[in-house]
Amino acid sequence: MTIYRCRVLDTPDDPFAGGTLRADDDAGLLVQGGVIAERGAFADVAARHPGESVTDLRAGVLLPGLIDTHVHYPQVRAIGGLGMPLLDWLDQCALPEEQRLAEPEYARAVAREFLTGLTSAGTTTALVFGSHYPDAVDALFTEADRVGTRVTAGLVVSDHNLPEPLLSTPERSYREGRALAERWHGHGRLRYAVTPRFSYSTTSDMLASCADLLSDVPGLWFTSHVNENPAEIAAVADLFPGAANYTDTYAKHGLIHRRSVLAHNAHPRDEELHLLGEVGASIAHCPTSNSALASGSFPLRRHLDHGVRVALGTDVGAGSGFSLFKEGLQAYFMQQLLKEDGVPLTPAHLLHLATRAGATALGLDDVGDLSAGRRFDAILVQPSAAQPLDVCLRHAASAENALAKIFSIGTPADVARVWIDGDIVVA
Ligand code: GUN
Ligand code: ZN
Repeated sequence: MTIYRCRVLDTPDDPFAGGTLRADDDAGLLVQGGVIAERGAFADVAARHPGESVTDLRAGVLLPGLIDTHVHYPQVRAIGGLGMPLLDWLDQCALPEEQRLAEPEYARAVAREFLTGLTSAGTTTALVFGSHYPDAVDALFTEADRVGTRVTAGLVVSDHNLPEPLLSTPERSYREGRALAERWHGHGRLRYAVTPRFSYSTTSDMLASCADLLSDVPGLWFTSHVNENPAEIAAVADLFPGAANYTDTYAKHGLIHRRSVLAHNAHPRDEELHLLGEVGASIAHCPTSNSALASGSFPLRRHLDHGVRVALGTDVGAGSGFSLFKEGLQAYFMQQLLKEDGVPLTPAHLLHLATRAGATALGLDDVGDLSAGRRFDAILVQPSAAQPLDVCLRHAASAENALAKIFSIGTPADVARVWIDGDIVVA
């Protein structure tokens, strides 16, 4: 057992539903077997457990581990392809790189780089878009298992409209996906997500095979992309004349439910929001990606009005890096620029979107904040002395203001320590 003495910020109560930032200046978190067994004022917790070892973290700020609900493993080396809209960026940046993961040694190297990217940014849980190649997905799970990160991921499947080496068939995709799901779903902290790339690159038969896999292996997750870019949406409408809208291309096959997480949704129709809200599906909002590809401004207000769950994704490599602080800041900017159509986001909203909202989207009840009873997934933000964030934190007017400073100028370099299940994680 260890008592962590810390300045801690978290958002157990949803700020979109009236909750506020929980800030404790001198808390004690008693961690036993990876679980926060007790939380209270440090003096009280220490008095109840005399002689227990104490780790003093007050030189930094303790936050819950960050949760990335949309990030592409094979795109680490594709970060930074600026100046293109989605379909051109896929052709010129992402898809050439993704084909290189056909080579298992290359895939293993990228898997290591990817897990390092997550961990060093303070991401302890992620819903990961895998690779089109089963061996590469195996390499991802193997590395995530070694590092200890909570990863939900799967084989990416497509059967048209992509370069030929990335294509498969519904039968082969089912077979390969099933073998991976049987190997990894429920292994340690890992889970499997059925992952058609997007309706633009999948036929109805492929989506039907995805539905078969979801129903044949209990508890799998579903992830894909939706309503990202106007040209993409128009092409999907042409490819699926029988579907009422983009979401319906998936919903028709029974793919939209509580365990579905769709990235982007920058251009939804009301009836799509209605369905997503009704079934409890989630949207991974990826603001740096939406900005870099000029995909569009995320209509957060309309999502909230329809009761749609929203969390944050970095969307590496269209997104500009692994930092959920940067995504939070960009989400804030985007809503500001929407003026009266935007949602004014407070630091508490940003922290919630980067932590507890992600846990809720991913159906993980035991992480996302640092309440007693949750697993100890946490990060220590502790900038180097005299760096601007260090100066800012020492002069913060309040806990809210300190959090605003962390989201404004915090980077992976400021994440000094990362714990998952009480263990220090090193990638
Ligand atoms: N839609 C289909 N594939 C992708 C991808 O790799 N990145 C993004 N941003 N959108 C996609
Ligand atoms: Zn994506």
